[in-house]
Amino acid sequence: MKEIIKMIDEEAINSRILKLADKINKDYKDEELLIIPVLKGGVMFASDLIKNLKMPITLDFIITSSYKDKTVSSGNVEIIKWVDEDITGKNILLVDDIIDTGRTLLHLKEKLIIEQPKSIALCTLLDKPERREVAIDSDYVGFTIENEFVVGYGLDYNKQCRNLPYIGKVKKIGSIK
Ligand code: IMP
Ligand code: MG
Repeated sequence: MKEIIKMIDEEAINSRILKLADKINKDYKDEELLIIPVLKGGVMFASDLIKNLKMPITLDFIITSSYKDKTVSSGNVEIIKWVDEDITGKNILLVDDIIDTGRTLLHLKEKLIIEQPKSIALCTLLDKPERREVAIDSDYVGFTIENEFVVGYGLDYNKQCRNLPYIGKVKKIGSIK
């Protein structure tokens, strides 16, 4: 197992999530919101976030795969599961662990827009702006981080480490690019 250096602890994550939830509560007031976590990475963030949302919500999921066991995005977004709900006319909040190159969320957003939702916003726990390859930004960002590969709190390295309650960086990723 690689050494993990703690970067953002549980307490900081929890208090930041409360602030994000406050902002989302204010922005949507009592309007209904369809929350769509992007799995698997967005699972922990989304479940902690929605506990603090006050408007009526419905929940659906999208499952994607893009990393194929590497620490550099392949750029291809494979959709393994799409939404079940009818999204036309709905306010959508797409929730993911991180916005990195931006390719995943741009692809999903463009695909969702085809079905004419009322609104669509992106919420990510992390943002790595230096890595952006396409023109998209997250509307609600927990933490902006440097260009480093991070794990924990839903984020994985070779399918491992998603269960860590904090965000850390992997030391000595060696020959893996
Ligand atoms: P994208 O490059 O913005 O399309 O990000 C695609 C996906 O790559 C994210 O949803 C994450 O699941 C994953 N990802 C990006 N950066 C990291 C990282 O530092 N650690 C773990 N997963 C990452
Ligand atoms: Mg992901």
